[in-house]
Amino acid sequence: MSVMDSSRFPTFCCDRSDYQQLIEEQCRTLELPEPNSAAVDVSFALAQKVSELINLKQKIPFSDFMQQALYAPGLGYYSAGSYKLGAQGDFVTAPELSPLFGKTLAQSIMQAFEHTQPVILELGAGSGRLMCDLLRQLEVEERVPETYYILEVSAELRQRQQQLLKAELPHLVTKVVWLDKLPQSFKGVIIGNEVIDAIPFELLMKTEHGLAQGFVKYNERGFSLEFHVTDYSRGWQKRNFNSYSMWPEGYLVETSELRNDWMRTLMESLEQGCVILLDYGYEQEELYSPYRPQGTLQCYYRQRKHSTPLALLGLQDITCSVNFTQLAETAQQQGSDILGFTSQALFLTLSGIEQFVAQAQDSDTIAGLSVAQQLQTLLMPAEMGQTIKVLGLSKNFSGTLSGFKSL
Ligand SMILES: C[S@@+](CC[C@H](N)C(=O)[O-])C[C@H]1O[C@@H](n2cnc3c(N)ncnc32)[C@H](O)[C@@H]1O
Repeated sequence: MSVMDSSRFPTFCCDRSDYQQLIEEQCRTLELPEPNSAAVDVSFALAQKVSELINLKQKIPFSDFMQQALYAPGLGYYSAGSYKLGAQGDFVTAPELSPLFGKTLAQSIMQAFEHTQPVILELGAGSGRLMCDLLRQLEVEERVPETYYILEVSAELRQRQQQLLKAELPHLVTKVVWLDKLPQSFKGVIIGNEVIDAIPFELLMKTEHGLAQGFVKYNERGFSLEFHVTDYSRGWQKRNFNSYSMWPEGYLVETSELRNDWMRTLMESLEQGCVILLDYGYEQEELYSPYRPQGTLQCYYRQRKHSTPLALLGLQDITCSVNFTQLAETAQQQGSDILGFTSQALFLTLSGIEQFVAQAQDSDTIAGLSVAQQLQTLLMPAEMGQTIKVLGLSKNFSGTLSGFKSL
C-alpha cells in the first residue's frame, strides 16, 4: 500500500457537491455570506491536499494546518487569487484604511535615515499600498530611499504590488526590488505592518492532564481539532507562567516557534539600523491573563470576525495576537536593542499624524470613510489605537524615533 493510499482513513468529502454542502453549512452556522463556486473549487482542492497530508500522519499540528490554509502554493488564502485586503476584501489594515498611516510612518523613517542607510525593507507588503504611500510621501520630502526592498511570501501579492507600483508611481519602479529571502547583512530601516500575526502558531489547551497541543484530523463531517499532551506542550507548561495555575481548565492559548524563528533570522540579518513592527498583540503577562480564557485566535472573512479556524479552508484569514515580550527577548538575544514599545495611537500621535489631517480633509474618502473616521479607527483605543502595538528594535544605531518618546 502506498503512503498516500487513503483507504485506511475515513473519506473526507471526496465529492465536490458534498464539499459545497459542508461550506454552505459552515456559512449558515457562522452567519457568513457564501463563497462563489470558483472559491469553493479552490477550497475543495486545498481540502484534498490537506487531507492527504493528514493521511500521512493521521493528524497534523494546528500550525501545519494553518500553514496550508494560508500559504499552500496556488491554493492557500494568501497564495490564491482572491482579493483579501481593503474594503472589498476580508479585512482592512491601517495602510488600506488611510494614507495618513503611511505619511506618518514616513516621518519615523526619515528620522531613522539620519542614523542609517536610506534604504527600506518592507516585510509582507500586502497589496503594496503602504509602499506607494511611503514612497509618495518620501518623494514630497525629497528623501526617496536608494532602494525599497520587499520580502513577500505570496507570489500572487507580489504581482499585485508590482501592478500597483506601475500604476501609481511608474517613475519609481526601478527603486523597488523584490527579495526571495532576507539579505545577509542589511543596513537601513525594516518595517512590517500586520505580518507577524499572519505567521502560523500552535493552539494549546489546559486539560486535566496538563497543557495539551491542538492537532487537526478529518472525517466525513470536515476537519476537527483534538488536543494531546506532547513534549512541546509539556515544554510550554514547564516555562511556568505566573498565571498558569490560575487558568481554568479549557483555557486556550496560542504559541508560535515560527514567529520566534522569524524574529531570530530577522535580527541576524540586520547589521545596522532599525526595525519598526506594528501588530495586534500584548506583553506576555497581559496576553496570558486568566481573564482571556478563549485565547486571541481570530478569523476574517468579508469584513466579519469569528473564531472557527477549521471552517472555509483557504478562504479566510487566520490570526492571533503577537506575544511581544517573547519576540523582544528573542531580538535582544540576537544583540539588538529595544528602541521602544507603545500603542499605535501614541506612536502615530507622537510622530505627528495631526499635521497631515488638515491636508487630508480635502482628499477623497477611502473605504467609504471620511478623514475623521479614518483618524478615529487608527487612534481610538477600542479600534486599532490600543489593540495594535508598535515594537521598535535597533542594532548599532544611535538615533531615537519621536513615536517612542516617553511623555
Ligand atoms: C495581514 S497581511 C498585511 C499586509 C500589509 N502589510 C498591510 O498592512 O496591509 C500579511 C502579509 O504578510 C505576508 N507574509 C506572511 N508571512 C510572511 C513572511 N514570513 N515573510 C514575509 N511576508 C509574509 C502575507 O503574504 C501578507 O502580504
